[in-house]
Amino acid sequence: MDAADISADLEHVLYTADQIEARVKELAAQIDAEYEGRQPLLVGVLNGAMIIMSDLCRAMHGHVEVDWMAISSYGSGTHSSGVVRILKDLTSDIAGRDVLVVEDIIDTGLTLSYLVHNLLTRGAASVKVATMFRKPEAVHAPVEVSYVGFDLPDEFVVGYGLDYDGRYRNLRDVATLAPHVYHH
Ligand code: XMP
Ligand code: MG
Repeated sequence: MDAADISADLEHVLYTADQIEARVKELAAQIDAEYEGRQPLLVGVLNGAMIIMSDLCRAMHGHVEVDWMAISSYGSGTHSSGVVRILKDLTSDIAGRDVLVVEDIIDTGLTLSYLVHNLLTRGAASVKVATMFRKPEAVHAPVEVSYVGFDLPDEFVVGYGLDYDGRYRNLRDVATLAPHVYHH
């Protein structure tokens, strides 16, 4: 098994690394403009947000701070239930802070909705959400998403931080997996 094997597992590339990079720059400029004169705390949700967080914060020109949470939502493999357990909490006190949650993908938005409410109860001045990808189900999400990179069809995708069974996060494109990957 070597690194070159990854691309053999892909079916369709939905967004290329170049498209993603260009879109991240646009989002960063928009966020910079809206937070001008403030210093947002970017809160990444591990592990999926690791890639978008590092790209987004480096594309921004204003001051930011970064913190992380790890949460697990109870549910079957690819779908979340909205019942959430915090596995790793923030290190920062967010009282009075402008928090921007940075997500890789929003599907039902249930996990995110829990998170936003949780952060608001800690006294954050504001809590907004940025996500690189959004699935169609997200239209019903009980949470407002201020910044969206790309909309995706209702297919399971990997790459740019998104995983299947822990793998494929390091793909630079976002793609669907070939059927043989699911039936081995
Ligand atoms: P909800 O439904 O709470 O769930 O918005 C968001 C979480 O679901 C996972 N998810 C995916 N992960 N490819 C993935 O690798 C996908 O296509 C996908 N759709 C949903 C993901 O963990 C996200 O945080
Ligand atoms: Mg995942």
